[in-house]
Amino acid sequence: MERALVLDTVRVTEQAAIAASRVAGKGDAELVDQAGTDAMRSVLNELDIDGQIVIGEGERDEAPMLFIGEKLGRAGPGAWAVDIAVDLVEGTNITARMINNSVAVIALAEQGGLFHAPDTYMEKLVVGPPAAGTVDLSWPVGANLRSVALSLDRKVDDLTVVILDRPRHTELIQEVRDAGARVKLIGDGDVIAALSAAVRGTGVHAVMGIGGAPEGVLAAAALKCLGGEIQGRFRPRNDDERARLEAMGASEDRIYRTEDLAPGRTVVFSATGITDGDLLRGVKFFKNGARTHSVTMGWRSKVIRFSDAVHLLGDGARVTVQV
Ligand code: FBP
Repeated sequence: MERALVLDTVRVTEQAAIAASRVAGKGDAELVDQAGTDAMRSVLNELDIDGQIVIGEGERDEAPMLFIGEKLGRAGPGAWAVDIAVDLVEGTNITARMINNSVAVIALAEQGGLFHAPDTYMEKLVVGPPAAGTVDLSWPVGANLRSVALSLDRKVDDLTVVILDRPRHTELIQEVRDAGARVKLIGDGDVIAALSAAVRGTGVHAVMGIGGAPEGVLAAAALKCLGGEIQGRFRPRNDDERARLEAMGASEDRIYRTEDLAPGRTVVFSATGITDGDLLRGVKFFKNGARTHSVTMGWRSKVIRFSDAVHLLGDGARVTVQV
């Protein structure tokens, strides 16, 4: 079942990426979101799932589509009951400005298999498989970097840590630099940064700092499949968020680990590049077609599949495929 879903799920992010990419670079973040949402929703509704959004574009009254609680899929007898987490355009603003590293992202798991994180912040520490189990969010930054360096058999000076470029990270950035590592500041998109930290050859060795909690769950689904690790601590921005967090049974003091955020036994994750990035190439359009680059994984089926697909656009279109 999961194996089939891995193949189906990539279509969701491919179509969302193509739609978002069509309107990328126009400086209109809302247009990007709307295009991605429409595409993602229509493909999800073609799948043999009885799905419910648990992490989406907001609450029902805030988001026109893909709101938390929204039902998707063909449903009916035999349909697989799944929880769905989406960030149809991870990096809406960077897509609108056509800056690198924006992706369409989705994770699915059996009901209860993804933590229902509220839309608040989360302090995160992400490392790849070699360092998994050797770091701790409660330790000083330097101690974690030494563990990552040791696991990769290199010096701390040879590590690159991705951090969201935000004023709240001034101190953290200094601590990382003081420890000797290099800091790669990103404007948006800590989910794809998390994946990059778990894949050798991307030049990213860890992700640190505070980003969205929903993005933390999406990253956890991917890191579980990749064998990497995320540790996160909720960081509510106000009393409202604090109250919601408590109502959902989550604690501000606890460190949540990969398995807490993505406890499912069947976990599927897919990301498709919208703009070019460290891990995935962006959508390329050509006459009557588009080419996408995606990574799709299934935890139970133990597969991590990179796919390069050509999509024929328009009815009966003729395209010349290029290698
Ligand atoms: P979107 O998917 O909403 O575009 O979010 C992009 C993002 O950069 C995430 O990757 C990150 O976790 C979060 O926003 C950080 O939030 P903020 O921009 O408020 O610092």
